[in-house]
Amino acid sequence: MLLLLLIFLLVFYSDLARSSQLRSEFKHKNIFILAGQSNMAGRGGVIDEKWDGIIPSECQSNSLVLRLNARTNWEEAREPLHADIDVTKACGIGPGMAFANSVREIEPRIGTIGLVPCAIGGTNISEWHRGMSLYNNLVNRAKAALIQGGTIRAILWYQGESDTISQADAESYGLNLKNFMLDLRADLQSPMLPIIQVALASGQGAFLEIVRKAQLGLQLSNVRCIDAKGLQLEPDGLHLTTLSQVRLGRMFALEFIKTVQNPVAFIHNNVSRSNSHLFQELCMSSLWRSLLTCIILLLII
Ligand SMILES: *[C@@H]1O[C@H](CO)[C@@H](O)[C@H](O)[C@H]1NC(C)=O
Ligand SMILES: *[C@@H]1O[C@H](CO)[C@@H](O)[C@H](O)[C@H]1NC(C)=O
Repeated sequence: MLLLLLIFLLVFYSDLARSSQLRSEFKHKNIFILAGQSNMAGRGGVIDEKWDGIIPSECQSNSLVLRLNARTNWEEAREPLHADIDVTKACGIGPGMAFANSVREIEPRIGTIGLVPCAIGGTNISEWHRGMSLYNNLVNRAKAALIQGGTIRAILWYQGESDTISQADAESYGLNLKNFMLDLRADLQSPMLPIIQVALASGQGAFLEIVRKAQLGLQLSNVRCIDAKGLQLEPDGLHLTTLSQVRLGRMFALEFIKTVQNPVAFIHNNVSRSNSHLFQELCMSSLWRSLLTCIILLLII
């Protein structure tokens, strides 16, 4: 009997310690919003509307990289990250997983990463204007991502190919982009939120250089630009290959690490439930698991 009690206590405490560590990691996750159009959603390895299914080692899943799915539940992230978000096209490899794994490789102490995919292929900047459905969806998903704790560390943005078709769109791109970023930061109540955007590698029209110039020339504090020009494209001449997406993910990660002076230290967002409530819940679940273990042990003996 005494032995059983001892085993019970041992199992209970080790289980409690382990799950409280996991909970704390989860509660303090580093959230990144992925938005833009197809090259953010990911078309690497997609040829003729079919993904080749190849996942490079840099994009492999692991328990410390999560994804907010379309039903706004957290789950282990896996490629294609946007499969249930950008649903009208075949999704392949984008920069998100390679980014998350690179950040964790550069700064392992950062803990859990939570990715929030929001990109939709073929969309122009006007559709991301405040009040439009893509914009609202982005803000809603960002807010949903915070409910169980964590901090939005940065927005990763890759968009503009659709705005290279008409000269008027290309010429108003800079102002539209700036307004989008300012509105988003205001609506997320985070005026200095880091944004890392991509200068286009390709465009759908003739006015690519005008859009690129607007992207590279955008002057806003804590907004950085990485340049995708020169990265290899799929035969369609528009989409980054899987290998290019891996490289872009790495570029995003290096830029993020440069943008924040100390990637590990940050202010935690308020969590909706009190800590004592969480602790109680944790104790109860550990209690049940320990009891179950003991009952099974007893049955075996
Ligand atoms: C943006 O895309 C939408 C939907 O495809 C279209 O209706 C709209 O005219 C486009 N706006 C501009 C400025 O190109
Ligand atoms: C957390 O919530 C409290 C009370 O609701 C508020 O006073 C405080 O400013 C919040 N902190 C952050 C970092 O949002």
